Amino acid sequence: MNTTLQSAQSLAAEVVKGLNGSIPGVEVGVCPPAVYLTSVAEKLRGSGVVLGGQNASFEKPGAFTGEIAIEMLLDVGCQWVILGHSERRQFFGDTDEIINKKVLAALERGLKVIFCIGEQLADRQGGRTESVLETQLSAGLKNLTPAQTDNVVVAYEPVWAIGTGVTASPEQAEETHAFIRKWLGQRFGQPIAESIRIQYGGSVKGDNAKELLAKPNIDGALVGGASLKADQFLAIVRAAGEVATMA
Ligand code: PGA
Repeated sequence: MNTTLQSAQSLAAEVVKGLNGSIPGVEVGVCPPAVYLTSVAEKLRGSGVVLGGQNASFEKPGAFTGEIAIEMLLDVGCQWVILGHSERRQFFGDTDEIINKKVLAALERGLKVIFCIGEQLADRQGGRTESVLETQLSAGLKNLTPAQTDNVVVAYEPVWAIGTGVTASPEQAEETHAFIRKWLGQRFGQPIAESIRIQYGGSVKGDNAKELLAKPNIDGALVGGASLKADQFLAIVRAAGEVATMA
């Protein structure tokens, strides 16, 4: 729930200008608030930067006042939707079961999914990180077919690192990403697990992005605060480009 119409438009325009074409090996997307999607889509036209929503309902369009349908996101040019963000889980009642319904609905109706998981500080301190993630993964991806995984990105966002300025160390993040990939391998088989992108999110900035992205199991970043400043966001994208060239 950030930006204004004006700042969302100018951010998008600055990102497009700063990128000046595509960066090999890097997919760039932005997920503005729903009311600004149409205006941001105009700024992104022809740039290769993809558009996503921050949430969607699993219901088909109809009498669900206040909700945003998957069809509506597609209609305004979204290819992606973020589902299960920790703020939706914490403050708006998105349970694993609801998130699973959203994931399946989005994929069935042609929207790609950034599926977020992450443990709370108390879980990490209590040694429960893996069991929390396992529950979120198995419930959130329930009934997903192997073919549908083509259109899913998993975003690991430790709740204690979101918007706090505290980042998981590259080693901590890598260890957890490796666990997630192992789980995906057991669920969908190794080749699929290797092809699924696992993004890290939680205080990613221009100056820590490269170290994180250089880790073998960290395939991308889901960026909050730093995406509100074009130069910070662009620095992260450039770091991803440097890592992609090294690979
Ligand atoms: P942050 O947010 O980058 O500000 O920590 C991440 C997120 O909200 O996904």
